[in-house]
Amino acid sequence: MTLVVNPRQAEVWNGPVGAHWAAHQARYDAMLAGVNDALFDAAAVAPGDRVLDVGCGAGATTRIAAGLAAPGHAVGVDISAPLLERARASTAAEGVANAAYECADAQVHPFPAQGYDVVVSRGGVMFFADHTAAFRNLARALRPGGRLAFVCPQPPGEHSEEARALGLFARLVDEEPGPEALAARSAMASLSDPERVRAILAEAGYREVAVTPVTVEAVWGRDVRDAVDFLLSRYPGRPLPAGRLAELEAALLPHATDTGVRMRAGVWLVTAVRP
Ligand SMILES: C[S@@+](CC[C@H](N)C(=O)[O-])C[C@H]1O[C@@H](n2cnc3c(N)ncnc32)[C@H](O)[C@@H]1O
Repeated sequence: MTLVVNPRQAEVWNGPVGAHWAAHQARYDAMLAGVNDALFDAAAVAPGDRVLDVGCGAGATTRIAAGLAAPGHAVGVDISAPLLERARASTAAEGVANAAYECADAQVHPFPAQGYDVVVSRGGVMFFADHTAAFRNLARALRPGGRLAFVCPQPPGEHSEEARALGLFARLVDEEPGPEALAARSAMASLSDPERVRAILAEAGYREVAVTPVTVEAVWGRDVRDAVDFLLSRYPGRPLPAGRLAELEAALLPHATDTGVRMRAGVWLVTAVRP
């Protein structure tokens, strides 16, 4: 990996959090798939485009971008070696020839100047210590007129069934969150304020910034038990008393449907142009 200026995120995403996402690749992909249409409609990737997918994780969106860009190509960049291993394996298994990956800190990685027509990200741009520097670095990688399109979480609101359930899990399982859990939560919420997003992108040199609310539905499990097991697997080594387990199950029960445990969540779809 080249220079890293987000060592804490490198540690987290190369440690237990990255391992969890890698082990549950299919589930995370299915959960996040609800934003794909909005993201790629906005990104308007055209045949021949060169696309950069920032914080690409296991590369689901890099492969979608590669399909839309052919005969162009897509490059996924991520700070997590285990997730990039999954990305490369899935790309080979699916026979996608025009997608490649780089392990790097996107805030400072020396991308080829004006090397991309489109930069996309499905929830991979919230974790920078210095967002303005990071988006400026990404602007440098875009050609003039190139587009930026990403999704990031909204603050909890009317449509936040998911945030409410996750908040309850966090309270019941992790009563006294340590500095790591608190830092993870604040990173996830770092771009939740649209005014802050607009200010950061303007300072980083983008124009035509638009922040649009999108409501998506995520499937957290086949049934309540499966969803609870998955959520608890995010807190290894925390056995729960039966009463609390019942409370968690009760919280998910209203969201159980014939096609899985479904919860709505609000995200921002952010688009901008590099002048
Ligand atoms: C919430 S996950 C989303 C992964 C992927 N975009 C997806 O939709 O499955 C966030 C990703 O951002 C990556 N990430 C965090 N900080 C990063 C940085 N400074 N540079 C590159 N990637 C980073 C993490 O390793 C992780 O894969």
